[in-house]
Amino acid sequence: MFTVVDHPLIKHKLAILRNKSTEHRTFRELIEEITTLLFFEATRDLKTCKTTVETPLAKAEVEILENDKFVIAPILRAGLSMVEPLLKIAPSAKVAHIGMYRDPSTLKPVSYFFKIPKNPENYMFFIVDPMLATGGSAVEAANTLKKAGGKNIKLLCIIAAPEGVENFTKSHTDIPVFAASLDEKLNSKGYIIPGLGDAGDRIFGTS
Ligand code: PRP
Ligand code: URA
Repeated sequence: MFTVVDHPLIKHKLAILRNKSTEHRTFRELIEEITTLLFFEATRDLKTCKTTVETPLAKAEVEILENDKFVIAPILRAGLSMVEPLLKIAPSAKVAHIGMYRDPSTLKPVSYFFKIPKNPENYMFFIVDPMLATGGSAVEAANTLKKAGGKNIKLLCIIAAPEGVENFTKSHTDIPVFAASLDEKLNSKGYIIPGLGDAGDRIFGTS
């Protein structure tokens, strides 16, 4: 399942994010803000259970999450920019790290690090990466996570290309994908058009 989270606030923030004149401090802030909005949508289906609390005035029937065992799993490097906003909303979440870069000539992912919590079957994983281009990195990240025992997984990205969406949703029919935008296409170097350029470089001020 692929969902573009269609919201005026996201559209407005994306417009500034895409602009090549936006410097990296603002770029990072916008990624964080958009990630928060994506998470809101990606968690809409979580189950709640009824309980009661005492307000200062009376007993209140309330609902709490049935399961709040979250793991945020950024694909390094660029995915790191999406961790802090999720930890603000889900402060007790654990953080996994999936170290992977895309070889510029083959466009295939090269894995260099993988660390997740013990007993992964008990957690809800949110793989985060701003860019879903060919989809190679996200497909490989999800393969590795499943092999390690992860079962309940969602993918959050800021910008997706049609090629990446097709690749990912065919490879992982059980993993819902949430994106802020579905762009037009990839160029010959595997960059998303119109996209926002190289996410990692713009986040970290490298190039
Ligand atoms: C970027 C991006 C994704 C990947 C997307 O990372 O953050 O991880 O490319 O491309 P794909 O869908 O074609 O696999 P990159 O490899 O540039 O590494 P970085 O985050 O370290 O800059
Ligand atoms: N990775 C990026 O950072 N940007 C793209 O457009 C594609 C892959």
